[in-house]
Amino acid sequence: SPSDPDLVARARAAKEKLGDKVFVLGHHYQRDEVIQFADVTGDSFKLAKDAAARPDAEYIVFCGVHFMAESADILTGDDQKVVLPDLAAGCSMADMATAEQVAECWDVLTEAGLAEQVVPVSYMNSSADIKAFTGKHGGTICTSSNAKRALDWAFEQGDKVLFLPDQHLGRNTAVRDLGMSLDDCVVYNPHKPNGGLTVEQLRAAKMILWRGHCSVHGRFSLDSVNDVRERIPGVNVLVHPECKHEVVAAADYVGSTEYIIKALEAAPAGSKWAIGTELNLVRRLANRFADEDKEIVFLDKTVCFCSTMNRIDLPHLVWALESLAEGNLVNRIQVDQETESFAKLALERMLALP
Ligand code: 13P
Ligand code: SF4
Repeated sequence: SPSDPDLVARARAAKEKLGDKVFVLGHHYQRDEVIQFADVTGDSFKLAKDAAARPDAEYIVFCGVHFMAESADILTGDDQKVVLPDLAAGCSMADMATAEQVAECWDVLTEAGLAEQVVPVSYMNSSADIKAFTGKHGGTICTSSNAKRALDWAFEQGDKVLFLPDQHLGRNTAVRDLGMSLDDCVVYNPHKPNGGLTVEQLRAAKMILWRGHCSVHGRFSLDSVNDVRERIPGVNVLVHPECKHEVVAAADYVGSTEYIIKALEAAPAGSKWAIGTELNLVRRLANRFADEDKEIVFLDKTVCFCSTMNRIDLPHLVWALESLAEGNLVNRIQVDQETESFAKLALERMLALP
């Protein structure tokens, strides 16, 4: 929907008044009405790197979800304040792994005599607490654009990986990129005693996958891939690695949001694409490339927006920018120092991956 011209003018005026004091970051899944005000856009890896690009900016307004704002706080100076325009913009996947559950899982691994060999690898889409756990136990963070390199690194440190919290990214990377078999992976269910696994199963596994998933990407199905191939002959199916393994296995290309954008930029005129990722991004890409004769469709019309990404709308952005312009620091995301120090260790291991 077109943005309200009055709100657009207010956002512009508040941003102008703040000048260099504010740095606005926008994830690719944000609404058009919001992304137009981002100084930098990116996938979660690019935004983690770019967050520190403007150390002079007093405020970093993060148009994305809570775990991204936490990561930005961890990776930027103590005098920089990270603001999330709506505090209810969480992530259902990140919520699937709590600090208590993960501590309990580590106890299970310790009792089984396996903790020494296990390296935690946590997806960026996790709370700062989980990142701190990861740093404390010698592990690294990964995103969908460096998961292979993170797993390669982890298997140099130990012979098992505990992958948190997205089972699909963990499984897809292990099988597609590392050549493991599905049998090398087990799923740890935090709602069952011992994760629902026997000590023998834990001992035999190379990848211990946390039972988490993305509520948006988890809904694309093998049927949607088959249907679109029937409907659009010659279509290229391009999906995000948070999709289920059977969807990823049936797709032609798999990658992060940044990868998806680059693939479409490089695609020849006349090519046809079905994209399995969040709808704001797919719609924006379809519009952007319409003039270049690239047909871009959403992989499954029954899948909708990420509801928490969509919480950041223009009214919330205007409110945040106007508040800051008036000297009121609102919705600050601040990770406590101890959590930050261990979480930073894990994030820096990711940033140092070859
Ligand atoms: P990327 O931007 O890293 O591809 O992540 C997708 C996602 O689900 C973010 O919430
Ligand atoms: Fe979380 Fe999925 Fe939304 Fe990303 S798209 S913020 S992983 S629920």
